[in-house]
Amino acid sequence: MCGITGYVGNKNASIILIESMKKLEYRGYDSAGVSFLDSKGALNIYKSTGTVNNLNKSLDKCKPNSNAGIGHTRWATHGEPNNINAHPHSDCTGFVSVVHNGIIENYKNLRNVLENLGHKFASQTDSECISHLIEDYLHKTNDIEKAIINTANKIKGNNAVLLIATHYPDNLFCFQIGDISSLTIAQGNNEMFVSSDIVAIPSHVTKVTYLSNNELAVISSNHIQYKDFAGTEIAKPNINVDIDTDTPSKGNFDHFMLKEIYDQPQSIINIINSKVSFTDSKIKFDDIPFTSNQIRQFSRIVLIGMGTSMHAAMVAKYWFELICKIPTEVDNSSEFRYRNVTLDEQTLIISISQSGETADTVAAMKNSKAFGSKQITLSNFQYSQTSRIADYTIELKAGLEIGVASTKTFISSLSNLFLLALFFAAKRKTLTNTEIHSQLSELNTIPMKIDSMLNNRNQYKRISHKYSTKSNFIYLGRGLNYPLAMEGALKLKEVSYIHAEGYPAGEMKHGPIALIDHNMPVVTLIPKDNMMDKMLITLNEVKARKGQVIAITTESERYIETLADDVIYIPKTSDELNPIIISVPMQLLSYYIALENNLNIDMPRNLAKSVTVE
Ligand code: M6R
Repeated sequence: MCGITGYVGNKNASIILIESMKKLEYRGYDSAGVSFLDSKGALNIYKSTGTVNNLNKSLDKCKPNSNAGIGHTRWATHGEPNNINAHPHSDCTGFVSVVHNGIIENYKNLRNVLENLGHKFASQTDSECISHLIEDYLHKTNDIEKAIINTANKIKGNNAVLLIATHYPDNLFCFQIGDISSLTIAQGNNEMFVSSDIVAIPSHVTKVTYLSNNELAVISSNHIQYKDFAGTEIAKPNINVDIDTDTPSKGNFDHFMLKEIYDQPQSIINIINSKVSFTDSKIKFDDIPFTSNQIRQFSRIVLIGMGTSMHAAMVAKYWFELICKIPTEVDNSSEFRYRNVTLDEQTLIISISQSGETADTVAAMKNSKAFGSKQITLSNFQYSQTSRIADYTIELKAGLEIGVASTKTFISSLSNLFLLALFFAAKRKTLTNTEIHSQLSELNTIPMKIDSMLNNRNQYKRISHKYSTKSNFIYLGRGLNYPLAMEGALKLKEVSYIHAEGYPAGEMKHGPIALIDHNMPVVTLIPKDNMMDKMLITLNEVKARKGQVIAITTESERYIETLADDVIYIPKTSDELNPIIISVPMQLLSYYIALENNLNIDMPRNLAKSVTVE
């Protein structure tokens, strides 16, 4: 969730920190703050509610010039978003300044103990305990490293902490508890960067290390010392990375969400170009570390993810069953991680996480390791946490997605999962070469079909205008399109704050139908496929109860106009690929309804793009 950044080197830290905080803002944008050590070694702390731009305006007035500092973008867990609760947090004497990502599970107890010892808390955050604990231990030990290690040993939960301290103008200190949300430390030329996310490291820096559970790093501009929590020095090898961390621009679009919806045809083309050879109908997952024999022996697939990524998993379940004939389950990572799951070496876990940092997905993957199951992860970031756990990473190749509501990463997850299903089908011989060729050829038409939908935006504007004041929506779909009903409802909730529910259409009569009246818009996913007749029955049942039907159907099915209140036509494709095509009208509906309501589309309230706390 929260974004952490730090710099020590020969440049003006304030400029560097603001740059990287802008890149980290997708992790949380309730408030932002920085602190620097001035030339006399004193702490200067600046905070602001809202975006990093707000913070930058106040920095512009004071023009701090320091070679070391830390910064934070917050997603509130304890205490409302305001200046006092914004990080960095300090202790009673103003000795340390701390930024934190995670949740201190025993913070109530720690705070009670510290308050009884006379410490005065300024904020309602759990994070402030860290600065007071360090202060307390420093009095006892007179040794900053010992004070930090003692503090770290007191804290429960997954936590990443970065701090500066008044008597140490040339150092950053950071530590990690638990395996989730690890800090990246990057080495430049006489300068060092710390970040909760590699995207905030400047692209010219290519040497990084990741802090692990129970590790402390003491960083100066030209040296990093790593220690475990027993105080013993440890060696950590550098990892060479090569990533493009330049922030994309919105171009002529008003919002990143719309731009990213428009990026989708190109994202699919990139995936196809990197993985498909049409001449011999081969799909290339060249470096996949499983033999053909192992792939043939997979007896079960378990797909895990959260939110939109779980919806992609739900679609893929149909594909793996249909195309590869492998029994497949889907689970929400936050449930999976705490269930008594039974896995074995023939089970393949496939996790989906565009950020690769989602705490529940990371934890679910770690738990699965004990069973010896093979793991594949799909992530938009090659060096993410999920990548570091999985046996194999499928890079989404969506390009950086800035809009908090996932759009192009969803479609890229779907496209990659579809190719993986075909790849398995070839190995397991559940499809012939000709069938694979025909599936690939149809996939190849999808970018053009999405383009054609994007060229016809007026209908979305009209329909969105008509329904934008509604308070509730129902989305219905069946078979492969049931997950899309869930995704459509999620997208609408996220960006327009309108209550929406997605259901498998067959479930409607079992309760949701009670909600239907003349005031309830029902988005009905009814493409021409093997479920169309069943969906038509549902549509008629909704109409019989005066519900307002917005039907999304295939362009050949013009008669639907006589049945529904509004119709959105989509190009014809195979049953298997309808979910990719149907994603687009649902994204556009959500976008334009949010636009009608004048909302902050790219940064919806209360959300964060990377959910690193459970
Ligand atoms: O980074 P992940 O794909 O693991 O994120 C999972 C969910 O948090 C994410 O899909 C969320 O639901 C999005 N805001 C959806 O638009």
